[in-house]
Amino acid sequence: MQVVYHDVIIVGAGLAGLRAAVEIAGKHDVAVLSKLHPLRSHSGAAQGGISAALGNAEEDSPEWHAYDTIKGSDYLADQYAVQVMCNDAPRAIIELEHLGVPFSRFSDGRIAQRPFGGHTRNFGEAPIRRTCYAADRTGHVCLHTLYEQSLRKNVSFYDEFQVLDLCRAEGAVNGVVALELKTGKLLLFHARAVVFATGGYGKAWKTTSNAFANTGDGLGIALNNSIPLEDMEFVQFHPTGLYQLGILITEAARGEGGVLRNSQGERFMERYAPSIKDLAPRDIVSRSIYEEIRQGRGAGAMKDHVFLDLTGLSREKIAEKLPEIESFARIYLGVDPAKAPIPVQPTCHYAMGGIPTDVNGRVNADAEGREVSGFWAAGEVACVSVHGANRLGSNSLLDLIVFGRRAGKDINRFLDRVCLTPLPLATNSADRAKETIDGFQAKKDGESLASVRTGLQKVMMEKVSVFRDKQGLSDAVGEISVLQKRAMSVSVSDRSENFNTELLEAIELQHMVNYSKVVAVSALQRRETRGAHSRDDYPGRDDGNWLKHSLCFLEKDGAVTHTHKPVDLSLAETRAEFVPKERKY
Ligand code: FUM
Repeated sequence: MQVVYHDVIIVGAGLAGLRAAVEIAGKHDVAVLSKLHPLRSHSGAAQGGISAALGNAEEDSPEWHAYDTIKGSDYLADQYAVQVMCNDAPRAIIELEHLGVPFSRFSDGRIAQRPFGGHTRNFGEAPIRRTCYAADRTGHVCLHTLYEQSLRKNVSFYDEFQVLDLCRAEGAVNGVVALELKTGKLLLFHARAVVFATGGYGKAWKTTSNAFANTGDGLGIALNNSIPLEDMEFVQFHPTGLYQLGILITEAARGEGGVLRNSQGERFMERYAPSIKDLAPRDIVSRSIYEEIRQGRGAGAMKDHVFLDLTGLSREKIAEKLPEIESFARIYLGVDPAKAPIPVQPTCHYAMGGIPTDVNGRVNADAEGREVSGFWAAGEVACVSVHGANRLGSNSLLDLIVFGRRAGKDINRFLDRVCLTPLPLATNSADRAKETIDGFQAKKDGESLASVRTGLQKVMMEKVSVFRDKQGLSDAVGEISVLQKRAMSVSVSDRSENFNTELLEAIELQHMVNYSKVVAVSALQRRETRGAHSRDDYPGRDDGNWLKHSLCFLEKDGAVTHTHKPVDLSLAETRAEFVPKERKY
């Protein structure tokens, strides 16, 4: 089997992966593997902006930003990690500007900032303009800029390579096994450091803003390697997905003055979050939308959605600040948002949980924080944890940039001082990947891939969604256990070697059923309501019993075991503002 060597292998070419690559390039030989062309990475779909207390629009401070992030997280975020992110944010934005990101500007030339949900001034007083943006294409321009910078710095790219497994030696990670989609060949990538920046996993839900590729491969591979996943029960539904399609309609639409209305035309968020209304954090807004629908105030014949009303904004403002949204509404629903409200419903958007890491991206193997040597994770696949039980809008791009860079810096130190030569590859490095592929191809008349995947998306949408309860979650765990077995029995009839997407989807499906089981088990065991995890049978937050992170492992037989680890409350030790309390908006 062909072996390729690079000092560092980064898996995933979104913002976290590329930011890490830019940090390492020039110091060490770094390669980025992606199952897509890098510019198709899902970071490019981020619309509304990236937060930082620059104070260009009004007075702001990283401390207020940290307060909002921790409160928004329903106090589950690790406070030191939040402080690291918020303190670094202004520098990170100026750095992006200098790298070439074409941010929107105020008339005085400074980077423009807009309001976003849950971001406030002076510890919750009123909404603040903290989110920097490039119209509603912020992720797109950041992705292009970092890709250009990576090319300028001679980062090696392996586009359309599907990573299947980690290579391990003496417990450490020293490479990956990958399938070249163009040829169907398996290759070993040998390295001294491996970074997972593989993004999120929204594709396990029927309605999602996530791209087709967001199948949580990094999480599935971690689970197969006995690496735990943290806080997987916390899955964010963005309040405004295009009705029936789930395509993201940015929160910036509300930041720029749009309001949500029910079938009676009422601005219902005034009842649920009287002080910041439509700019409440996403968990609260999504729940409020479902509450309106439950109470019969949903719109349309099915009474199953609400409206995002932008008719109070001028056509010029929509064209300047929200051009993508304008075209999505027109193209997909035939709605002119300057004239009529846009039908919207919550859509599965973002995973707060993931592979546990420290603030330098080092992967933790257990609740005690022991490291998996040679292995880093950054971005949505990782759980640092800066988002806790609910992420604030525009904190995601920030997380990618800040922790991608920190992982890169940490790897440079590791390669200079710790791992001076690569650990030899074990002879059986590719065995599991080969077995998986052979297994799929050997099966005749197996399960239909599409029917297992559709079944999973239905269960997750119906039983592991915004509102949850014991019965639904127990049923979901049982149904997913069956789907796990069926996913193993999928047959791949396509024998072609180039771009065998049927094989690729069969591999993705295995990851999807495994992490979905972890999500459902984590949600079942957390008997409280916190952030995006809303239990009808346990409606209150229970800090006495549940102010702790969950950590889940996948056993060889497909069962999920879990343990817990404490939340870092270090800021609360000296500042009353950071002590967990009831969230009011
Ligand atoms: O609404 C949005 O533009 C999404 C931003 C985010 O998820 O941070």
